[in-house]
Amino acid sequence: MIEMSGICKAFNGNVVLKDVQFELADGEIHALMGENGAGKSTMMKILTGIYNRDNGVIKVDGEEVTFKSPKEAEAKGIAVIHQELNILPDLTVAENLFLGNEQTAGFGILKNKEMNREATRILKQLGLDIDVRTPAGTLSVGKQQIIEIAKAIETNAKVIVMDEPTAALTDREIHTLFKTIRKLQSEGVSFVYISHRMEEIFAICDRITILRDGQSVGVREIKKTTFDEIVQMMVGRELGERFPSRNVTLGDVKLEVKGLTRPGLCEDIHFNVRKGEIVALAGLMGAGRTEIAQALFGFRKMAKGEILIDDKKVKIKNPRQAIKLGMGFVTEDRKTQGLVVDFSIKDNISMTNFDKTAQSGFISSKQERTFVQNLVEKLGVKTASIDLSAKALSGGNQQKVVIAKWLGIAPKILILDEPTRGVDIGAKKEIYQIMNDLAEQGVAILMISSELPEVIGMSDRVLVMHEGKITGEVSGEDMTQEKIMHYATGGDKVVQN
Ligand SMILES: Nc1ncnc2c1ncn2[C@@H]1O[C@H](COP(=O)(O)OP(=O)(O)OP(=O)(O)O)[C@@H](O)[C@H]1O
Ligand SMILES: [Mg+2]
Repeated sequence: MIEMSGICKAFNGNVVLKDVQFELADGEIHALMGENGAGKSTMMKILTGIYNRDNGVIKVDGEEVTFKSPKEAEAKGIAVIHQELNILPDLTVAENLFLGNEQTAGFGILKNKEMNREATRILKQLGLDIDVRTPAGTLSVGKQQIIEIAKAIETNAKVIVMDEPTAALTDREIHTLFKTIRKLQSEGVSFVYISHRMEEIFAICDRITILRDGQSVGVREIKKTTFDEIVQMMVGRELGERFPSRNVTLGDVKLEVKGLTRPGLCEDIHFNVRKGEIVALAGLMGAGRTEIAQALFGFRKMAKGEILIDDKKVKIKNPRQAIKLGMGFVTEDRKTQGLVVDFSIKDNISMTNFDKTAQSGFISSKQERTFVQNLVEKLGVKTASIDLSAKALSGGNQQKVVIAKWLGIAPKILILDEPTRGVDIGAKKEIYQIMNDLAEQGVAILMISSELPEVIGMSDRVLVMHEGKITGEVSGEDMTQEKIMHYATGGDKVVQN
């Protein structure tokens, strides 16, 4: 169906793809895996006419092609869901869904009513039941991601490239997405599936191609390979334990939340986090986890409730106050809240450290450089220079920059909202190690995560939310996927799977 061979690409002399091969058969789901910066997104951008290639051949159905734009690729039946969301925040959900495809969707001159009805139907299939007339920008990242997926599916493509489609989705949405993928596969659609979540690769893919440092490492049939073999091929070494262990004696209660309420979002939330403890907030998308985090950090007002730090009542009206009180917040949406992609890596990292910079004051820009350089090295951000713009980084490396900028303020309380989203398996482990180090230094950590293995592997205690309330708390032996899912779906209701 698609054959890419000898693909080469350099950006400003920096070679990122060297003689890469990729082949997609008719009706297959083909995984593309590799560490952050390995070249996966670049390969797919070359396929779909976003980037030119320096060398190599692309054939579709045996015929040599060079697409000059994504539109040309789409005309040949190839659609892409990009890693970066391309939602226009001011347009409605329905408008976003049909943007540029009014013709294919068969509307001609768009009739709003029809369009809204159709959008509602399509999104329902993907498990998203919302008012399609709301501005897309008001939706959570996860919901925006579902809209992106729907957009690609609606082009009636023969090939759909999905670049990390599930990064912001929870298990239930992933399950629904997989059903849709399988249905389309049975109708003859092929998929290129890029993900850092190994469980997904094994659940849905037929074959896998692995890239390492811009080179093809090999192709395997999923049935004939193993988790360990893939990791080995990806990182070129054994990785050992997926979740490193830590050695902490828990200290006093650092953060306490009493009766936190934001009407319609979360209600009467009570919990605490001790020094050195990692507490996870689990739950399905929309359960209210991010809402709690935003209220804690002063991004949003809470209607009722108290926050105590070191047993003292505190008022947090804005993020600046939160930072002054020793809090850090790695947000879930790196593009709008975490990162200014047009700024350099250095400026992104030192920017959030405004208070630190103001207090301790970088005496010289040399000092600032050293500070940033250290963080970049500590986190293993793959970049030629800290002066490059964040835009040139691969998705996972952007995430590391977001984490770096919060580590820079040396927080006593750290809130992490989906800290490893889009991060490769090796770098994930580095982030876990950093979390452990912080906990060992007595930092109180509140982690929001939709990846249950991560929740179970990394936290001391899990608070599970459902529809704005904490429905259960599990720790120790009780931390199982089943127990967490039980509470995440309301507690008494049967888990639908
Ligand atoms: N527009 C660009 N300008 C300069 N360098 C770029 C550009 N796009 C990508 N790169 C570089 O190319 C390399 C491959 O990036 P790519 O985005 O393809 O990685 P990836 O495998 O998709 O990683 P991730 O898992 O983090 O998404 C990286 O080193 C990246 O910094
Ligand atoms: Mg990528």
